[in-house]
Amino acid sequence: MKNKYPIGILGATGMVGQRYIQLLENHPWFEVTWLAASDRSSGRTYGEAAKWRLDTPLPERIAKMTVAPAEPPSASVDAPKIMFASVDAAIAREMEPKFAAAGCAVISNSSSFRMAPNVPLVIPEVNADHLHLIVEQPWCKESGGYIVTNPNCSTIGLVMALKPIEERFGIEQIFVTTMQAVSGAGYPGVASMDILDNVVPFIGGEEEKMEAETLKLLGKLERGAAGHAIKPLAAGMTAHCNRVQVVDGHTECVSLKLGRKATREEILAAWAEFQPLAGLDLPTAPALPVQWASQPDRPQPRLDRNRGNGMAVTVGRLRPCNLLDWKFVLLSHNTVRGAAGATILNAELLVSLGKLEPVAAEAARA
Ligand SMILES: NC(=O)c1ccc[n+]([C@@H]2O[C@H](COP(=O)([O-])OP(=O)(O)OC[C@H]3O[C@@H](n4cnc5c(N)ncnc54)[C@H](OP(=O)(O)O)[C@@H]3O)[C@@H](O)[C@H]2O)c1
Repeated sequence: MKNKYPIGILGATGMVGQRYIQLLENHPWFEVTWLAASDRSSGRTYGEAAKWRLDTPLPERIAKMTVAPAEPPSASVDAPKIMFASVDAAIAREMEPKFAAAGCAVISNSSSFRMAPNVPLVIPEVNADHLHLIVEQPWCKESGGYIVTNPNCSTIGLVMALKPIEERFGIEQIFVTTMQAVSGAGYPGVASMDILDNVVPFIGGEEEKMEAETLKLLGKLERGAAGHAIKPLAAGMTAHCNRVQVVDGHTECVSLKLGRKATREEILAAWAEFQPLAGLDLPTAPALPVQWASQPDRPQPRLDRNRGNGMAVTVGRLRPCNLLDWKFVLLSHNTVRGAAGATILNAELLVSLGKLEPVAAEAARA
């Protein structure tokens, strides 16, 4: 790609914002040209404002950039029209619509609009067709801007492992227990005195998000008289969410009741053959999105979270379940696949579909 797309980051100094910067360094299609954060940071250089927490050096070009106030592009604000957003949900609820109304493509990590009926909640390997919802958004009709979201960090790994099973055998019931890394709570996150030598069996709102988002992601796009809408998967679903003292990587124990019987070999084949993005050449897409770990004590966060550059989900320990049909363990990197990498892959998918430049207002109204 000759000219790269200029990208702005909302919440650039946070945990997810830092991952965007790390993953976009040398990206073949995207270049970070604008950084915004809170009033605490704006006006300072990024190097002064951000407490860089990643294990690769902060790129020098980014360190020298000045953090801007989080204001949408206008005659007086020179900001790009593509925004990767990672601010707290309460702030996103106010901020993201302003950017969409100003004609921006807002590709968001926050939970604020994930369950809105006209906002696509997308994992490219799972439900790329849900992007049709964009045209139902008022901002799209008025300015060409829109909001696209990616799921919660614990939902994304689960749904990637479920999709190949759901499409071949159907799923009637899902029971999941998570062991979630501390980086999922942002920085500084859970106090060390609370998490060391401990497990915290509560993450506010997480179980409700997992339960609702999973069924929307596995749902069907339908077109009725009132426009496009998602019919959620009709499955029973329950989640138990726990915080554990792991830095990166969410582990999940899953039991499933299937729509029709499947053998172990059939499930392994469904995972191995799941390559829905093959041929699209999206730079961040892992060649094999769901990877099987055959050893009896895997997956493990330290050993498996970076598979597929942190974008693959690792599954293991597939065995019969005494209550439902099958049970297994999965692992995914929560700030890469579960956050910044998910947004970047959504943006790459939008490029491949010709939808990244905000849809021209006239075209959206037509
Ligand atoms: N961490 C994960 O694994 C993960 C995974 C999926 C989704 N998410 C979601 O992604 C979002 C960000 O998470 P995070 O972990 O990166 O949080 P974080 O580390 O607390 O970072 C929050 C960011 O938002 C900025 N901010 C705060 N108030 C603002 C305001 N009024 N205007 C503009 N920017 C403001 C902060 O800037 P200052 O530095 O200036 O305060 C910082 O850049 C959340 O909605 C979270 O739920 C996180």
